[in-house]
Amino acid sequence: MTDYLHIKDVQKPEMEGKEVSLRGWVYRTRGSSKMQFIVLRDVSGIIQCTTIQKEVDEKTWKSAEELYVESSFTVKGIVRKDDRAPGGYELTVKELEPICIGEPFPIAKDLSPEFLADQRHLWLRSQKMSSILKIRSTVFDAIHEYFRSQKFYEYHSPIFQAVQCEGGSSLFSVDYFEEKGVFLAQTWQLYAEPAIFALEKIYTISPSFRAEKSKTSRHLTEYWHAEMEGAWFTFEDVILHGEQLIKYIVKKVIEERQEELKILDRDIEKLKPCIEKPFVRMTYSESLKILKDKYKMKIEWGKDLRTIEEDKLSKLYDTPIIITHYPLEVKAFYMTQDEEDPRTVHGVDFIAPEGYGELIGGSERESDIEKIKQRLIDQKEDPKQYEFYLDTRKYGSVPHGGFGLGVERIIAWICGLDTIKDAIPFPRTMTRYKP
Ligand code: 4AD
Ligand code: MG
Repeated sequence: MTDYLHIKDVQKPEMEGKEVSLRGWVYRTRGSSKMQFIVLRDVSGIIQCTTIQKEVDEKTWKSAEELYVESSFTVKGIVRKDDRAPGGYELTVKELEPICIGEPFPIAKDLSPEFLADQRHLWLRSQKMSSILKIRSTVFDAIHEYFRSQKFYEYHSPIFQAVQCEGGSSLFSVDYFEEKGVFLAQTWQLYAEPAIFALEKIYTISPSFRAEKSKTSRHLTEYWHAEMEGAWFTFEDVILHGEQLIKYIVKKVIEERQEELKILDRDIEKLKPCIEKPFVRMTYSESLKILKDKYKMKIEWGKDLRTIEEDKLSKLYDTPIIITHYPLEVKAFYMTQDEEDPRTVHGVDFIAPEGYGELIGGSERESDIEKIKQRLIDQKEDPKQYEFYLDTRKYGSVPHGGFGLGVERIIAWICGLDTIKDAIPFPRTMTRYKP
């Protein structure tokens, strides 16, 4: 059995002059009648493989000539230092064996975003996408680490659900055999709250679905949602965990994914304040005042903050902004009213810097069963459908709260992406569900 190494592991001084075997895909090729230069790509990097006709057998030479971009192959050769080569080393080929030569690769330079979206299954191999996917993996890792280190249990809600939670307009209905009135999860929340009576502190990372009819750079119809819920949590506990979680994720990505952030040309200095400083915090009413003072934008009290207002606010600070005490009417039915100002609720949004939108939405949960029923009715919902949920307020109800973090939102911000679509391998939007 051949022992294959990864490219990164041979680009080291102690490997110079050693014979090694590598495997992967053709990144690019160039050659003449006497020499072939094939740049090999694997998960760890790229290395140039130089084949000299008079130094290899006929089979290897012929293979070196035949390979296309993205053909797969294995290669044996000697590591040589070469300061001009990417990674500082190259490989002088002794043997080269194609695994799949295939066909000419359809993706070349300067193609339209639409074409690349159609070829998404192949475009995932690009340096840009593979760097984002590595960062994505680290983000998931960080979320699990954070919650587990804080002694949360991982818990799972169903994806097929019989109720809405975040407003009927963004619900996806599915045919459930002969039945109607079944939806894809917008959030785990209503099926998570019952479990805090058993597990107290719980979290998940799961797909959520929103029938967003807007074509924006920050909305997907299917996205990954990191959510938590905690028994006995106050509003301040919810906010504290939100800030700590974001800090934890950003710190881990900066520590472990320097190389990928560099490939993406991301300025790490823009992320550092988020770890080093406390987040900016204000109430909804204060945010209206700031918008008026700084931008002369007049927003009527009671109207939700729109993208444009969030973006304007985010430009003023270098950390995420924690906005609390939104008007009752603009927030979901389950949020607790503020005692001092009952026009407002204990709901919180975390707005990302640099115009990346809302990262987290969360709240303290209302305990009063009558208030919940009334607010459901106000929103034209039938409380009967919510009986299982209302039961949580009948049997040993406790103060509690939680939040949801949009995983692709935080990835898009950390990576500095132009669109959230690149934060997920196969984006689903209003206009695309293929490939
Ligand atoms: O603010 P939202 O709607 O809150 C909830 O769903 C709560 N039930 C969460 C909870 O308390 N357990 O959604 C939470 C987050 C948003 O802040 C945003 O980051 C993300 O989910 N999000 C989306 N991400 C991508 N595409 C979409 N269409 C999104 N809609 C929401
Ligand atoms: Mg929200």
